Amino acid sequence: MATEKTPIVQYQDVNKVYRGGNVAVEHINLTINQGEFVCLIGTSGSGKTTTMRMINRMLEPTGGTILFKGQDIHQQDPVNLRRHIGYVIQNIGLMPHMTLYENITLVPKLLKWPEKKAPGQGRGAD
Ligand SMILES: Nc1ncnc2c1ncn2[C@@H]1O[C@H](COP(=O)(O)OP(=O)(O)OP(=O)(O)O)[C@@H](O)[C@H]1O
Ligand SMILES: [Mg+2]
Repeated sequence: MATEKTPIVQYQDVNKVYRGGNVAVEHINLTINQGEFVCLIGTSGSGKTTTMRMINRMLEPTGGTILFKGQDIHQQDPVNLRRHIGYVIQNIGLMPHMTLYENITLVPKLLKWPEKKAPGQGRGAD
């Protein structure tokens, strides 16, 4: 069972080679502990987006293992996995008819999280 000391995310020797042979990520080993703030910095094409998109299985690695809270994400249902990883949607992923608050709270609502009483925070923004 995951404890407070279990890393939130671990990449173990992860590779991603796109069809056509583009090597986007090569042997990445990365441990992110709970509460840590991590920023991926690199030149264009260095594999930042590919690395991020593999954590919630929007892309599947070609090799290696990714653990989320100590569990191999490959063994987990992608939809359920995604609902437990916050992801800030940009541009076309946003629902244009909804406010910023409604967009941000869409997944927590799907998960039936109780709404925290925070009068005015974020509401009505667009
Ligand atoms: N769908 C794809 N098919 C083939 N090659 C791809 C695909 N997506 C990305 N690549 C290639 O994989 C490499 C890494 O791309 P990625 O988008 O992960 O880089 P990035 O660091 O996010 O770049 P940027 O800073 O421009 O957003 C690049 O060489 C890119 O051309
Ligand atoms: Mg990118």
